[in-house]
Amino acid sequence: METITSISELRKLLDDRRMTEQSIGLVPTMGNLHTGHLKLVKAATQSCSFVTTTIFVNPLQFGADEDITTYPRTLNEDQEKLIVAGCHCLFAPSVEEVYGSNPLTSTVIHVPGISELHCGKSRPGHFAGVATMVSKLFNIVRPDRAFFGLKDYQQYLLIKQLVNDLVLEIEIIGIEIEREPDGLAMSSRNAYLTAEERKIAPFLHACLNDIAGAILNEDRDYRKLEKEGVKKLQEAGFKPEYFSICHAETLQPANSEDSSIVLMVAASLGICRLIDNLRMQTS
Ligand code: PAF
Repeated sequence: METITSISELRKLLDDRRMTEQSIGLVPTMGNLHTGHLKLVKAATQSCSFVTTTIFVNPLQFGADEDITTYPRTLNEDQEKLIVAGCHCLFAPSVEEVYGSNPLTSTVIHVPGISELHCGKSRPGHFAGVATMVSKLFNIVRPDRAFFGLKDYQQYLLIKQLVNDLVLEIEIIGIEIEREPDGLAMSSRNAYLTAEERKIAPFLHACLNDIAGAILNEDRDYRKLEKEGVKKLQEAGFKPEYFSICHAETLQPANSEDSSIVLMVAASLGICRLIDNLRMQTS
């Protein structure tokens, strides 16, 4: 596996590969790779003949009060894991290579509607940062397919909208959430949990399952169930940000007529902000 840090070098390599390879896959990440990321890489290697993974901690998607300086950076270990997973090329540029001397003067891509909901409310500018970075990667790599984890379900829908609105010829593939044996969704940010918080954290997934169970038992009073979700999380020791039952495509509040819904949750334990979701059919 080659590791490349320059945009022009990556473009050259991919132009060469495009002559011989049938399809180019892209797996965008911020590094500190865990089994969830490697599942994306494996899916990419199964459906694309040449796979580029990117590692870049994108300053534009972190708020002023967020954890960019402490975000875990483990490039050497990540390289080893990518080799084992069968990745062909790693792109790990510097901030300057991607944004020039000042990220804050970059042109920004705003995906309307979806960016303002849920995580977008508490993280203003976050989704514009994601959309800008992903657009840059799409332009640099020009992949046939790009792979994203469904733990960041709002991000996945946002990228699908971006691709649709800008008429990009890229297939967006969502890969199912990878969980620890106790149900906690894998995330680089789980490293911020203390031992005590780590014991509580799986309750986030358990709570989604509880509420989903009520829905499967024909309870369709979604606004009441959302309140119940928040209360259960508070009782378990979380600081909930939202517990929302939404239409699975628009992420607007679901109503009893909707057949595809998603239960979405964001909640903090100490300094660690966790998100999770559960998608389901009601009929
Ligand atoms: O999901 C992530 O890790 C990031 O938001 C992404 C897609 C790599 C963009 O920086």
